[in-house]
Amino acid sequence: MSNLITRTTELAMSVTLTYIKPGDTVVDATCGTGRDTVVLARAVGNEGRVYAFDIQKNAHLLTETRLKSHGIANVHLMLQSFVSMSDHIPERSAAAVVFNLGYLPGGDHSITTTADTTIEGLEAALRTIKPGGIVTVVMYDGHDEGAEEKKAVLEWAEALDHKKFHVAYVSLLNQKNCPPEILWITRK
Ligand SMILES: C[S@@+](CC[C@H](N)C(=O)[O-])C[C@H]1O[C@@H](n2cnc3c(N)ncnc32)[C@H](O)[C@@H]1O
Repeated sequence: MSNLITRTTELAMSVTLTYIKPGDTVVDATCGTGRDTVVLARAVGNEGRVYAFDIQKNAHLLTETRLKSHGIANVHLMLQSFVSMSDHIPERSAAAVVFNLGYLPGGDHSITTTADTTIEGLEAALRTIKPGGIVTVVMYDGHDEGAEEKKAVLEWAEALDHKKFHVAYVSLLNQKNCPPEILWITRK
C-alpha cells in the first residue's frame, strides 16, 4: 500500500471503502473525470449500484468513457446537481456518498462547487446515507471559492448533532500549496 497520509484523495477513499460492501448503493456526488466512480463501482460490484452526479455534460462524457474502458455497467449517470439527490435515491439507503469539491480537472475553472449548494447537497447526503453509512468530502481551499466553501462546510459540520453523527476532519498541517483536506461524517 502507498504512503497513505501523503495522498489525501487515496486516504479519503480507503476509509470510505471500509464502509462499502458488494451489493450496496453508493453515490458519487461529483463524478468529474470518473476516477472515484470507477473505484466505487468496483467496490459495490455487479449487484450494487452507483449514482454519479455532475452538472457538466463534459464530466459525464469523461466518466462514461472511463467506465466503458473498465467494462463497468452498474453506474447511473445523473446530469443534475447533487442537491437533487433526495429526489432520486430513497432516504437512508446508501452506504456512502462521496464529494470531491471544486472544478473539473482540466476543465472550466469557473464551474465549481459553491458554499451554498454544497451545504444543501451535504444535507441531502445525510438524508441519503443509512445508519452506519458515511459521507466523505474532499475539499480544496487553494482558490477563492474553495476557501469560502471549506469555511462554510466546516462550520456546518461542527454544528451537527453529536447524538446523531460522528464527524472527523483531516488536514495536512505542514504542507505547502493548499493540499486537499478531508471531512468524514457517519450517521449513528
Ligand atoms: C474536483 S471535480 C471532481 C473530480 C472527480 N472526483 C474525479 O474523480 O475526477 C468537481 C466536479 O464537481 C462538479 N460540480 C460542481 N457543482 C456541482 C453540483 N452542484 N452538483 C454536482 N456536481 C457539481 C464539477 O462539474 C466538477 O466536475
